[in-house]
Amino acid sequence: MCGIIGITGQGPAVPRLIDSLKRLEYRGYDSAGVAAVVDGRSDRRRAKGKITELEAVLAADPLTGASGDPTVGIGHTRWATHGAPNTGNAHPHQAGRVTLVHNGIIENFAELKAELQAAGHVFESQTDTEVVAHLIDQGLTAGRDPLDAFKAVLDRLRGAYALAVLIEGEDGVILGARHGSPLVVGWGEGEMYLGSDALAVGPFTQKITYLEDGDYVRLDRTGATVFDMTGARANRSVVQVSASTALVEKGEHRHFMEKEIHEQPDSVQHTLSAYLDLVNAKVRPPEGLDFAAISRLQIVACGTAFYAGMIGRYAFERLAGLPCDVEIASEFRYRHPALMDGTLAVAVSQSGETADTLASLKWCKAHGFRTAALVNVHSSSMAREADHLWPTHAGPEIGVASTKAFTAQVAALLALAVTAGVQRGRIDAAEEARLVRVLFEAPRLIAEALTLGQAIQAVAQELSKARDVLFLGRGAMYPLALEGALKLKEISYIHAEGYAAGELKHGPIALIDEATPVVALAPLDEVFEKTASNLQEIAARGGPVIMIAPEAAETPHGAIMTRVAAPDCDPLIAPLVYAVPMQLLAYYTAVQKGTDVDQPRNLAKSVTVE
Ligand code: F6R
Repeated sequence: MCGIIGITGQGPAVPRLIDSLKRLEYRGYDSAGVAAVVDGRSDRRRAKGKITELEAVLAADPLTGASGDPTVGIGHTRWATHGAPNTGNAHPHQAGRVTLVHNGIIENFAELKAELQAAGHVFESQTDTEVVAHLIDQGLTAGRDPLDAFKAVLDRLRGAYALAVLIEGEDGVILGARHGSPLVVGWGEGEMYLGSDALAVGPFTQKITYLEDGDYVRLDRTGATVFDMTGARANRSVVQVSASTALVEKGEHRHFMEKEIHEQPDSVQHTLSAYLDLVNAKVRPPEGLDFAAISRLQIVACGTAFYAGMIGRYAFERLAGLPCDVEIASEFRYRHPALMDGTLAVAVSQSGETADTLASLKWCKAHGFRTAALVNVHSSSMAREADHLWPTHAGPEIGVASTKAFTAQVAALLALAVTAGVQRGRIDAAEEARLVRVLFEAPRLIAEALTLGQAIQAVAQELSKARDVLFLGRGAMYPLALEGALKLKEISYIHAEGYAAGELKHGPIALIDEATPVVALAPLDEVFEKTASNLQEIAARGGPVIMIAPEAAETPHGAIMTRVAAPDCDPLIAPLVYAVPMQLLAYYTAVQKGTDVDQPRNLAKSVTVE
């Protein structure tokens, strides 16, 4: 959701806060702000819109003083929850001596606000956050030590938060806390940092401490002291994160999304290599896990990750005979699900921080089920919470619309399904070798699919004129149709729906007319003929069909058809290969429409609120 950063250092803080906020913009981007200690006083600048708007404000009205450029400051980029995205609601928020930024939701803010108002506090925003500043200031005014005042307030907050706080008079000090929302401490030379993730502090340091839920911290230029939720000093290790956290440039690409689509041959290969041994054509079972001892899988996830989970289900049941349920985490967590003994709960998530998925994982753990986290951010809350960490190796994904993280999730799930088949005695050595080789064909075929760019650009020109688009597929192509529709709607704002091709005649076919394009995913698999019949039914009703299929696949009779020639591939890896034309179609349609591809309206990359 929102991104936060704090720096207590030696050099000018403001340009570096801005640099960090740009890296955090993927978390939210409807308004932004920075505050810095200028001549001993906290001063702030805020702007509605993206970081570039904030830069313009700072250029017109710099945060400098008689003592020069400030070296201590905090910054925030917002995804609005409480209060409209305007300058007044933008962080940092101030009350008396306190200035702070917050990521999360303070659920009991209304009662706290009423109490503060009754005590004479005047609020200037509609946010939940502002109460925290007033409460801390109230403690300071009552004569409490800053750290005590801070801790006393944390004890009163309900909900999720990551906080970075400046207190006037506390030179070089930043206070931080996390509960439910991520926060890291970065260690520099004579400088210290606080950020939403390792990416935020990436330009300054790769030495990181991941705070745990309930931790709070006091930073000054020389170091950090961490306390746990009981107020006891906590020993949290310092880890070296990979240099790839610094790799967030677009390179030759126009958008991060385009770059990330093109990174998929590599990201899929890296991910497969973690689970499969190509040299010996064997699976590499994750440590400490025997699928033969598991009676059921329960996958929980949101959005694109949920669709990856659905694709996984087809593979686990087919290849391993392992019953598998997949559910949207926001439903699962409140449904009181009745899970069977022997169930392994698997959270699938790019960020590893999505609030509903994390809560579902915790619920399963608390109810005695084993848990695994299939995550791209290996230091995330889910990674640390789960019994088993199953990493994807997509590298940092910045585009808000997930692409390479999705295919990495699918690749890992397919590889794990083969592993499960081997461990459960459903797949013999010869079949294991064949399937491992098939999976490793995916990177090359994804690269081949990437050459479809020009053909798809032409299709996108037409598609960009549509008001509604339908996506169809059968088997594992059905969840991919759902994903294709999600990709298109989230970045081009064209209404799109995905359907199981066989379901069309049970209602949605009523939508078909000459203005409603239908994108059909039709690999040459065992259900190709069925899909082809469904396309004929659409053609008979005048619906324009965009058929993504291998060249060898026959065009259904009488169809009004645009063909996109997908690479021929084994049906097992078709979801990986066909994901590429789906993504390119959405991408080029959005470019054609001139939308903000990397930061579509109303969205945020990491959804750490319910
Ligand atoms: C869509 C998209 C979202 C995420 C969802 C879950 O392109 O990115 O639907 O898939 O918000 O996020 P993670 O995977 O971080 O749990």
